[in-house]
Amino acid sequence: MADHPLPADETATRTAPAADASVGRSGAASRPAALAVRGLGKRVPLPSGELTILDAITFTIDAGDTIAIVGASGSGKSTLLSLMAGLDTPSSGEVVLDGEALSTLDEDGRARVRGEKVGFVFQNFQLLPSLTALENVMLPLELRGDRDAEGPARAILEQVGLGARLGHYPRQLSGGEQQRVALARAFVTRPSLLFADEPTGNLDSRTGQAIIELLFQLNAQAGTTLVLVTHDDHLADRCGRRLRLDGGRLVAPETQAT
Ligand SMILES: Nc1ncnc2c1ncn2[C@@H]1O[C@H](COP(=O)(O)OP(=O)(O)OP(=O)(O)O)[C@@H](O)[C@H]1O
Ligand SMILES: [Mg+2]
Repeated sequence: MADHPLPADETATRTAPAADASVGRSGAASRPAALAVRGLGKRVPLPSGELTILDAITFTIDAGDTIAIVGASGSGKSTLLSLMAGLDTPSSGEVVLDGEALSTLDEDGRARVRGEKVGFVFQNFQLLPSLTALENVMLPLELRGDRDAEGPARAILEQVGLGARLGHYPRQLSGGEQQRVALARAFVTRPSLLFADEPTGNLDSRTGQAIIELLFQLNAQAGTTLVLVTHDDHLADRCGRRLRLDGGRLVAPETQAT
């Protein structure tokens, strides 16, 4: 069961310690790794032969960690993120998400795990064009049967600076505004794991900075594990760890002092 949404003002101040992560769950020490990736590979058949997109990727992420996945365009970052979130299936290896091996689940089972635990921000946003900004953000709450979807959705949209755009359809929003709606949609369920593919990619530096603060408030206050693909050094610097992909392989992880 996902956490209850925090009141909007609670996410606006940095008061609660990271230990709040375990509220409503079992003690931190007994919790499994948030995410384990073992020998993960992704290959696709092409007319010209098989293309290896990812090869033998292995690492573990602890609950509450903040991870930046970096690497050149085409190195496999988005593919890895999709596999970790159970949106795509690997050719080899496995992903264990909060103790559940995704390979043992069918599509419905993976959808259940995603709905309970995962927030995902797509590189190209993937907002539903026929829903307003507010309706897009309400949707994940409605899908899991929350009685009040509108209140938390409004609050989070206000937090990302879109209080005056609630009734806009995606086509009526700028790229950066769509990105903020996508972030709000991923945040609104207070997931235990948040995957975001270049969350500041389309934002000016001030808006980007505000989004970074919001991400790390979520980490500090709700214990959300953050897995972020980014080309933004400032964002990567804020993360506890970097994983670098090169041609579909993990190169020596760079651990950073924080
Ligand atoms: N379904 C697919 N079929 C064929 N090739 C694919 C498929 N999906 C991804 N690729 C290729 O795999 C490589 C990795 O793609 P991916 O989108 O993971 O890269 P990325 O690191 O996220 O790049 P960027 O920084 O540009 O977003 C690319 O060369 C891409 O063309
Ligand atoms: Mg990508």
